[in-house]
Amino acid sequence: MTDLSVRAAIRGMGVYVPERILTNDELARMVDTSDEWITSRTGIKRRHIAAEDQTTGDLATLAASRALAAAGVDAADLDLILVGTATPDHYFPATACLVQERLGAKRAGAFDLLAACSSFVYGLISAGQLIAAGVVRHALVIGAETLSRLIDWDDRRTSVLIGDGAGAVVLTPATNGRGLRSGIVGADGSAGDVLKVAAGGSRMPMSVHAIEHKLHRAYMDGQAVFKLAVRTVPGLVRDTVARAGWTLDQVDRIVPHQANLRIIEAMREQLGLPAGMFEVNIEGYGNTSAASVPLALYEAVEGDRIRPDDRVVLAAFGGGFTYAACALIWGS
Ligand code: ACO
Repeated sequence: MTDLSVRAAIRGMGVYVPERILTNDELARMVDTSDEWITSRTGIKRRHIAAEDQTTGDLATLAASRALAAAGVDAADLDLILVGTATPDHYFPATACLVQERLGAKRAGAFDLLAACSSFVYGLISAGQLIAAGVVRHALVIGAETLSRLIDWDDRRTSVLIGDGAGAVVLTPATNGRGLRSGIVGADGSAGDVLKVAAGGSRMPMSVHAIEHKLHRAYMDGQAVFKLAVRTVPGLVRDTVARAGWTLDQVDRIVPHQANLRIIEAMREQLGLPAGMFEVNIEGYGNTSAASVPLALYEAVEGDRIRPDDRVVLAAFGGGFTYAACALIWGS
């Protein structure tokens, strides 16, 4: 995607995280870990965990309602609802259809998109293209996740990393030259096994055997994911910035996927950029997968670290292996 003529812009944002906060110290009472290990290896201090009766669709709907209110857009005027998630409420109907019904967005088409932790940025670029093509005018893009449901809470290699949450944006055609300038989506399917839920799909339907062997839980080769991310994302950011017609030193803020503070730091070093340019909020949320970029973007805007007409880059990577980045001029 290069040089969009009709640009989509973010007109309003909303987020929601569950009330329950799980600290590192609490985790250290559940598995053999410590606050010191988690903090020094990942940068994470605490995370929000969905209540037993709370689903991805619930989190998504709350974030979406807030985004619509912030944008001043009526749900009835939405043409599209896109939910990026790896933890949908069901196989089908899509979580986006549940959100559509709850919001009363009767005119909107609705579908889910699965690119793991890259889903929100994939969704933003996809919805932006549909606006650019004139197919839709008002789009709601949500990144929502309840990874806590996929995790083996006895596995310290994954349980300390994740958190639940949702972030949503309302996209409309841009004015004043703002909005999306470039976007890149990519994948390396050969690395699919490094981050995987083996059971529950058509290859290995859910069974007593699968549950007994915890094959319905997330498996991760942490070091492989780490290396793939550090090898891929700096070049992705460079290419996205170049396609927008910018140079790196013209970028005001980079909002990366929050998987590990050390990954963000390694990316920053490779790009030769100052630490202050990167939005980091992993300390309070952990890795919320598809929700991570919108949660960090929201905090950057609320904290006045992103202002109208700033040049912003969003960059994500995740299971698949997938990656995606976009450049945009902030404001609508
Ligand atoms: N607490 C204490 N010790 C631990 C923990 C823990 N939570 N987890 C692992 N260890 C131990 C290991 O067993 C190992 O011990 P050993 O040396 O005796 O074998 C030691 O710590 C070092 O383990 P490494 O895997 O080498 O640790 P590393 O520095 O690579 O950090 C981490 C692991 C944090 C997972 C890192 O590799 C990472 O962040 N990778 C990227 C993860 C990611 O981005 N995932 C994306 C999605 S998350 C999801 O969807 C589940």
